[in-house]
Amino acid sequence: MKHPANPLPVAGSETGLEILKGFARERSLLVALRLMNEHVGTAFQITLPRFQPAVFIGPESNRQILVTDRQDFIWRPEGDPVCKLLRQGVLVTDGEFHDELRAWMDPPLQRRNVIPHITAFWRYTNDIAMAWQDGQQVDMLVEMRKVALLILMGTLFEIEFLPDMDRLWQPILDLLEYISPGLWIFWAGMPRPKYRRAIATMDEYLHGIIRQRRQEIERFGVEPSAGDLLGQLVAHSDMSDDLIRDQLLTMLIAGHDTSTALLAWVFYLLGMHPDALAEAQAETDSLLSSHTRPPSLEEINRLAFIDLVIKEALRLYPPIHVGNRRVETDVTVQGYDVPEGTRVMYSIYLSHRDKNHWENPNEFCPARFDRHSGDRQPPFTYVPFGGGPRNCIGAAFAQIEARVVIARLLQTFDFELLNGDEIKPHMGATLEPRPGVTMRVTRRR
Ligand code: HEM
Repeated sequence: MKHPANPLPVAGSETGLEILKGFARERSLLVALRLMNEHVGTAFQITLPRFQPAVFIGPESNRQILVTDRQDFIWRPEGDPVCKLLRQGVLVTDGEFHDELRAWMDPPLQRRNVIPHITAFWRYTNDIAMAWQDGQQVDMLVEMRKVALLILMGTLFEIEFLPDMDRLWQPILDLLEYISPGLWIFWAGMPRPKYRRAIATMDEYLHGIIRQRRQEIERFGVEPSAGDLLGQLVAHSDMSDDLIRDQLLTMLIAGHDTSTALLAWVFYLLGMHPDALAEAQAETDSLLSSHTRPPSLEEINRLAFIDLVIKEALRLYPPIHVGNRRVETDVTVQGYDVPEGTRVMYSIYLSHRDKNHWENPNEFCPARFDRHSGDRQPPFTYVPFGGGPRNCIGAAFAQIEARVVIARLLQTFDFELLNGDEIKPHMGATLEPRPGVTMRVTRRR
């Protein structure tokens, strides 16, 4: 398809000017996407030098890209930093190889194998929060990253990460910066020597824990638990250490940065809506039976309001705000011709704020997800975890983790948001609240 008969709409000169102004004002690509959606519609092409993705919004294209025609949409171009970093990680592979990796990795992340981690979710939350002084100001973006890192490493890799956290904190942030949108989008071969050291440090660390686990399993015959992903890959797959490194780094990045963003957004939203904060806190007080023991699964399952808040936070600020693909063969989406090789983005953020499918889309309203209110959303309007066969492998993990962490913190502390007015969504590796979520934490008596 050299010259599509029905090409995607692009910005006219007036819209283009408005976008430039919005971009200069807010320094965010999100503004550009939002304005294109407002002025052009639910399908459009961005026409920047060397960056011309087709962007789609809404259930029809979400379903086509994720499910019905998914074989026509493969992962990103190989020069993309995510692919360079994660090499053969399950997130960035396609076809049979992807499905094979996924089959190895799915079982430890199934709900029944995540449930036994509830105690660890609770314990690692304590490890971080018990260091807070009464009345102290904390940045919840930073604190939740600590919690999410301890949890991910402690459960899926069975590694106590606290002793290494300070040393590896900056390399991890560097890797996140490496894969965040930046100038490389316009200049694929751009040299980026700054990141070599961080990648080498993380590689060395990950290879060290793989070697150690191999020894424990092969020499001493330790049988890994069903939820221990690292142990399962070492003991039961035929993956090389390099291939396991790719999966571990994938899980480390995809599994902690997303939860960090979700938890930070939840505390931002609760801070901005004191009624919701009070209701969530009252729920923990009435449903959690103990301050000294982890909650049971039944208690976690009964936290209905906190669950609605999590769902609404994922709608308003989906940590993965866009899914990236490359068109493998000419396709038609929403009636427009999209030629082979085009970079495609399905926008989760804009699908979640689409006026055609959501009432008052920009308002925080957890009750909209209440099953008893009767309004069920049509499929593929709400896709915080993607969809189809390559949906989020960690969806169950992330949702149980979020409930436990939030409930534990609300049970123990009062929270006051101090910088609500200055917080804006920022497109990093995930959609983050920047410049951070500053809260005063007061221990509850
Ligand atoms: C709030 C937390 C999370 C959110 C919002 C989230 C969101 C997503 C989304 C939208 C996708 C699909 C992307 C696409 O279509 O291109 C995805 C895939 C993935 N996620 Fe998550 N995620 C979360 C937590 C996790 C956790 C905890 C893990 C690991 C423990 C994880 C690991 C992955 C992996 C490996 C994939 C790729 C799956 C595949 O391609 O087969 N995520 N996630």
